Amino acid sequence: MPVLRIKGGTPLRGEIYASGAKNAVLPMTAASVLINGRVTLTNCPRIADAETSAEIIKALGGCAEFDKNMLTIDCSGLNLTRIPQRLCEKMRSSITFCGPLLARFGCVGFYEPGGCVLGKRPIDLHIKGFKAMGAEVIEERGKITLKGSLKGVKINLPFPSVGATQSLMAAACLAKGTTVITNPSKEPETLALADFLNLCGGKISFYENKVEIEGVNRLHSAQARVIPDRIEAATYLCAAAATKGEITIKGITISELGIIGDVLKKTGCILTEEHNAVFLKAPQRLNAVDGLTTAPYPGFPTDLQPQICALLSLAQGKSVVTETVFEARNRHIPELIKTGAEITEKNRSFIINGVNSLKGAKLTAFDLRGGAALVIAALAAEGTSEIHNPHHIFRGYEGLIQKITSLGGNIEIL
Ligand code: UD1
Repeated sequence: MPVLRIKGGTPLRGEIYASGAKNAVLPMTAASVLINGRVTLTNCPRIADAETSAEIIKALGGCAEFDKNMLTIDCSGLNLTRIPQRLCEKMRSSITFCGPLLARFGCVGFYEPGGCVLGKRPIDLHIKGFKAMGAEVIEERGKITLKGSLKGVKINLPFPSVGATQSLMAAACLAKGTTVITNPSKEPETLALADFLNLCGGKISFYENKVEIEGVNRLHSAQARVIPDRIEAATYLCAAAATKGEITIKGITISELGIIGDVLKKTGCILTEEHNAVFLKAPQRLNAVDGLTTAPYPGFPTDLQPQICALLSLAQGKSVVTETVFEARNRHIPELIKTGAEITEKNRSFIINGVNSLKGAKLTAFDLRGGAALVIAALAAEGTSEIHNPHHIFRGYEGLIQKITSLGGNIEIL
C-alpha cells in the first residue's frame, strides 16, 4: 500500500494553479446523462472521483473520454439505467446520476452510495423529492429502483442538502411542468450546475431562498468550463500559512474563496488579489480564531474544517471549531494530536490550544479532507511524517505531489 512521506519545516513558496472543482465537475458529469448529444467540460480535474464518474457513463453505454483536462461526454447512445454496485460504492456522488437517469429514461437502478465515512449520510431527501415528483421507489436488499415519469412539484428541503438540491434540480429539467425547491443549497458548485444546465437549454432560476425549474422537452450539446476549486485552493493557502510561507494561487479570486479568506485574514495572514490570482503571506505567528462553526454556504465549509483545525493547532491562543454538518467528521483529530497538536473534543466542538511547533509522526488518512489536514500538519511539522492510506487524499487533489513539490515542500510517495 502506498504511503506519503513528508519532511516538514520548509516554508511553501511559489505559484500554483487552482484546479477545477471536484464538487462542480461531478454533478456536471452526472447531469450530462440528461443530454442527447455531446458535452465538453474544460478545466476538469484529473482526480479519482472524476474518473469514476466517467466510468459510470461508460458502464451505462455512453462515451466519456479525457484529453488532459478536457472531458468529452456523449450520452446519445446510453442505453442502460442500472448503475453497477461496484461504482455506486466507490463514491457518494454516484447518487447524483439517479435524477438525470430517471428523468430521461423513466427508470434508474442503483445501490447505497459509498464515499467518505463521515457518520450517517442518508439519501432520504433525494428519495422523498423523487417520490414527490411522481417516482415509484422499490427497495430490495440495498438495491433501489426508481420508476415513473416526473412532474413538476413544490419541494421544501428541511436542510439545504447540496446533493439533494443538485439531483432534484437536474431531474426537474426534463420533468413535465415547473418544480420549485425551497431552502436549496446555494453553494457555488450548485449555481455552476444550474449555469451549465441553462447553457444546455434548461430553464433554471435562482431566487433568494428558492430555485425554480421549468421543465423542457430536451437539452442540447454544450461546452462549459469547470469553476476553480475553492476547497483545494484554500487547502494550499492553509498549508502556506502553517509553514510560514508565501504563495500565489492563480485562476481564483478572493471572492470565489468565500469565508475562508476572512478567516485566514483573522489568523494574521496577508491576503491580496491581482489578475485572477490570490497571494498569501503568513505571519511569523498565527492568531487563534474563536467560534468557527461549519454551515451551508455562505457559512464556513465543512470541507475545510479539518484543514483549519490543522492550521489553528499552530496559532497563538485558544480556537474553537464546531462541526454541524456531519456528525462524525472528527477522525483527523487523534491524528493531529499525534503530531503534538493540543485538541480536545466536546460534543461537536474541537477546542484547540495552539502550540509553537508540531513534530513528524506516523499518521493515517481516514477521509479526503481529514487526510488533507494531515498533509498540512506534516508540512509544518519538524521532522518526517508518514501518511498511510493517501488514496483518500488523491480522490480530491489533482497533482498534489507535483504542486507541493513545486512550492518547495518535501513530499514523496513510497
Ligand atoms: C456535498 C459535497 C461534500 C460536502 C457536503 C457539504 C459533493 C460531491 N460533495 O456532499 O464535499 O462535504 O456537500 O457541504 O458536492 N443529508 C440527509 N439526507 C439526504 C442528504 C443529506 O440527511 O438525503 C444530510 C447529510 O447526512 C449531511 C448533510 O445533510 O449531514 C449534508 O449533506 P449534503 O449537503 O447532501 O452533502 P453531499 O451532497 O453528500
